[in-house]
Amino acid sequence: MNPEKIVVTQSETHLHSPFEALGRWRADFQSILSARALDSQLGFRKTWYLGALTLGTFTIQIFTGLLLMLYYHPSIPQGYADMKDMEFVISSGLLLRSLHRWSAHAMVFLVFLHMAKVFYRAAYRPPKELNWVLGVCLLILTLLLSYTGYLLPWDQLSYWGTTVGANIMSSIPWLGPKIRFYMLGGHTVNANALLRFYVLHTMILPLGIISLISIHLWRLHKDGGMYDVDDQGCPLFHGKNPQEKIEQTVALAKEKTISYSDLLFREVIAIEALAVVLVSVALTWKAPLEQLANPMHTPNPAKAPWYFTGLQELLHYFPPFVAGIILPGLIVSGLIFIPFSPFFDNVKTRDAVEWFRSKRARWFTGGILILLVTALFIRQHAWDALFPFWIVVVLTSFAVGPAHDKVDGLRYWLQEKPISFWIMTLFLIEAVVLTAVGTFFRGPGWAWVWPWSA
Ligand code: HEM
Repeated sequence: MNPEKIVVTQSETHLHSPFEALGRWRADFQSILSARALDSQLGFRKTWYLGALTLGTFTIQIFTGLLLMLYYHPSIPQGYADMKDMEFVISSGLLLRSLHRWSAHAMVFLVFLHMAKVFYRAAYRPPKELNWVLGVCLLILTLLLSYTGYLLPWDQLSYWGTTVGANIMSSIPWLGPKIRFYMLGGHTVNANALLRFYVLHTMILPLGIISLISIHLWRLHKDGGMYDVDDQGCPLFHGKNPQEKIEQTVALAKEKTISYSDLLFREVIAIEALAVVLVSVALTWKAPLEQLANPMHTPNPAKAPWYFTGLQELLHYFPPFVAGIILPGLIVSGLIFIPFSPFFDNVKTRDAVEWFRSKRARWFTGGILILLVTALFIRQHAWDALFPFWIVVVLTSFAVGPAHDKVDGLRYWLQEKPISFWIMTLFLIEAVVLTAVGTFFRGPGWAWVWPWSA
């Protein structure tokens, strides 16, 4: 390299205006942030902007959380007194707290919706498979973020909600009590637990989430932007050999526009609209605060936060180790496994049905499986878990019948779906039904109550 040339270049840069320097930065950031995407991928219907909206709620939480930290002390009973002060003494304190609380709920809700939308668009498929796994980690961290924050007000709700969660932990054979001990810093939910949850909630988990989101979005950019799928959710790369795929990719790239101005602009508008909704909600409904936590008085029922009431509902039917560890473990490993499983993800319902040569064999095998699961749920009196299972059974039996492309639109569409579609659909309907029952239909002694009679 010629040193003289460098000197000339540097002196030239000094002469430039700051706007030109800013322009250079802008171009660099633009190339980092923008991904090329097909025009057809930019519309609201493709992603419902759910990833961006999740990011929006997280940003609101960071801002409101930092302000809350200026007033909150992680000690007993000062933490509770600070919550009271937020409500009655500090100006806009209640708004701040409510906004933080409702945006946390919104984040949990949106992250599930985002996951479902990504799944049904098949956007977890190569080259996005590791980004999907990263997403599963983000889902877990989001749940932990909400769960650790739940304890901080130190009221009855938070104390007993955390106790229920910690008890689930201790049901892991051998290691359970040890994990519970390290998690709480003792044998019960006490001042040590409050401090640990505070550090996790305000430092470790947010930093973890920020790092993972950065990698999530960077990979989205590196992997060619938004996933290219046709209207049926099938990848647009139909090429059989690598050369064909490369040619298709190049051809497709020419059709793509830079998503920076189009997509990002729309997503920012969507985030702003969500912020307006959340502020309105926070102004209308204040975040709940019950009596000061009392370890001697267990509320009946002691409910976990809503995103864990589905789990609590399962605990009502199955032993803690099954409901608290085996089933969630299966769900998480199932989610991680989806993009890598040639069996579940590559076999269409139509082809799976064809493995059974005769109609009788098909109905016999299916019938045995359905009977076994039904008998298990009936034995445990788990009627609300049985209901989603049967919805999926009915849908699957509908898909099994003969179908011709145009005439049987829905049936044909279902037959095209991979087996993983049925597993995810079952998981999601179960999650919705069990969470709704646990949250709204359970009263003292976890007995069934109608919400309007409570
Ligand atoms: C804190 C949580 C999360 C944030 C902030 C986030 C953010 C985003 C954003 C902004 C996008 C761009 C497209 C869009 O708006 O949908 C995206 C895409 C994606 N996300 Fe997430 N995400 C999160 C959690 C998850 C989870 C839980 C999963 C799945 C288990 C997931 C899997 C994916 C995948 C595979 C894509 C690529 C989709 C495509 O190519 O069209 N993400 N995410």
